[in-house]
Amino acid sequence: MFHTVICDLLGIRYPILQGAMQGGGGVELVAAVSDAGGLGVLPTFGGTDQKLRADIAGVRERTGKPFGVNIMPMGRGITERCAATCIELGIPIVTTGRADPGEAVVRRLKMAGIKVVSVIPTVEHARRMEGEGVDAVVASGAEAGGHVGTVSTLPLVPQVVDAVKIPVLAAGGIGDARGFLAAFALGAVGIQMGTRFMATVESDLNDWGRDRLLAMRETDTIVTRAMTGATVRCIRTPEIAAYEGAVARGADAAELKDLATRVRSSRYGENKSDRRQSAAGQVAGMISEVVSVRDLIERMLAQAARLAERLPSVAKGQERGPGGPALRQRD
Ligand SMILES: Cc1cc2nc3c(=O)[nH]c(=O)nc-3n(C[C@H](O)[C@H](O)[C@H](O)COP(=O)(O)O)c2cc1C
Repeated sequence: MFHTVICDLLGIRYPILQGAMQGGGGVELVAAVSDAGGLGVLPTFGGTDQKLRADIAGVRERTGKPFGVNIMPMGRGITERCAATCIELGIPIVTTGRADPGEAVVRRLKMAGIKVVSVIPTVEHARRMEGEGVDAVVASGAEAGGHVGTVSTLPLVPQVVDAVKIPVLAAGGIGDARGFLAAFALGAVGIQMGTRFMATVESDLNDWGRDRLLAMRETDTIVTRAMTGATVRCIRTPEIAAYEGAVARGADAAELKDLATRVRSSRYGENKSDRRQSAAGQVAGMISEVVSVRDLIERMLAQAARLAERLPSVAKGQERGPGGPALRQRD
């Protein structure tokens, strides 16, 4: 069950991608996701070539399963260097985030036999990446953690599915078996999750981050340019709230720069209890426990299989719980 074209394309057991997460999960998380049958993806944003090489070696020490490397096209030099390292080291899958890496880079990766999967926030961007020859797209809605557009997952995924011929995965707001199943109903052939994977034993969160994730409500994220200059959905912290407050009252560029510097300099706390600035999606509100990656994936798939069997009767209104027909997280 749930074996789709994306499993064959990427050589993975389950149609579950772990979205690359700068500051959210590195070698341990990537290896754990791939080892559990999904696709772990290493982040590279803001890192050096040396770090990427060390990370790739680290994942390979921990698993023989396929994993991917994420390229964030933040500049031609960085994008090309990252692509060249992936080719040299025989990485089988590259995902791209936020922007178009450029047709030449996609072509070079493809000629080296690398599968390319692009995360896209609009139909237009999906069409462009299909035209450049990528193998699949991840339609990522505005509720996602990290860089976001403005269209939500529910309307975005089916519109992308209708617009392109390549496989489409869904991302943004998926955190349990119900979201997983919903992605298939929207026409996707798999999912990408980020935020939910942060609440795992293998992620890179410090104690503050884990406690914060478990306590968050669905309204505790905020979209801000304070982190990278582009729109990023983050955990709402006092530093980011101050920046956004200043934006709302029309503060001048110098003040905004100063407030953004405060956000960026407190991005990675040194101590376990330090408040960090971290991207996170709205799905954080439904995370109630930290589990191992393997437990997360296996429970999600088992629950999705059970829910899929019940769906016909739920849809016909034949299941009557206290609130009417419902699929609850504990079901
Ligand atoms: C902490 C964090 C860091 C992220 N960093 C990156 C990144 O470096 N590159 C990228 O393409 N996407 C990045 N993302 C987006 C994720 O890969 C993924 O697409 C997104 O989290 C999916 O939405 P969800 O959070 O609702 O599951 C990041 C997300 C989070 C939460």
